[in-house]
Amino acid sequence: MAANWKMHKTPAETAEFFAALRPRLLAGAAPFVVVAPPFPCIPAAVVAAAGLDVAIAGQNLYWEPRGAFTGEVSGPILKAAGCDYVIVGHSERRQYFGETDETVNRKVGAALEAGLTPIVCVGETLAEREAGHTETVLRRQFERGLWSLGVEQILNCVLAYEPVWAIGTGRTATPETAQAAHAFLRSLAQSTFGGEAAGHLRILYGGSVKPENVAGLMAQPDVDGGLVGGASLDAACFASLLG
Ligand code: PGA
Repeated sequence: MAANWKMHKTPAETAEFFAALRPRLLAGAAPFVVVAPPFPCIPAAVVAAAGLDVAIAGQNLYWEPRGAFTGEVSGPILKAAGCDYVIVGHSERRQYFGETDETVNRKVGAALEAGLTPIVCVGETLAEREAGHTETVLRRQFERGLWSLGVEQILNCVLAYEPVWAIGTGRTATPETAQAAHAFLRSLAQSTFGGEAAGHLRILYGGSVKPENVAGLMAQPDVDGGLVGGASLDAACFASLLG
């Protein structure tokens, strides 16, 4: 279960969150947890997550390892700061910051090169869904975002299906809608990377996951976990998503 905090929380609030979540994680039987805080909160998160089955993620990275790129953060910097994961191609980055399938592809390669597991986000807008283009969009994002990877590399990636119309809107995909998209993504993985890799690929669902709908979504055969925004900000709420 992955928490995407977006542009929320300070380092002090990060420590408070982990202090509140720690008893739930130590109680056992929780899924593997990933938390993606804002960059300046990563050190606090790494310290607070020590001894827990929790990995820390960046929310973005640049594809060059270092250089004169003011405002950017690279894979090697995230790795050295204690991250093991990084979100790539979130729809908010595609929508507001000019992310394209091509930049997603470069960032996925850079993440893997740095020893980070990219959580690669794909998903259609409401207009695309209503026009019947969901599968075309998912295929394009999948193929252009991941074309350069081999089987070994896809096994080190996590995919996240995040329908744009469900993100932050309170409007969740039904379990059946999510399952259909996940099954389609897994079929794309199968035709590109083979059945074994497709079977191992973890595909997260993201978009208004909350305590009321998490069980139905996670019960779907091709839904392997969640990428949670709003409902991940409160430790008690996030804890209730862990089953
Ligand atoms: P949400 O965000 O849970 O607030 O809809 C999910 C995401 O954007 O990853």
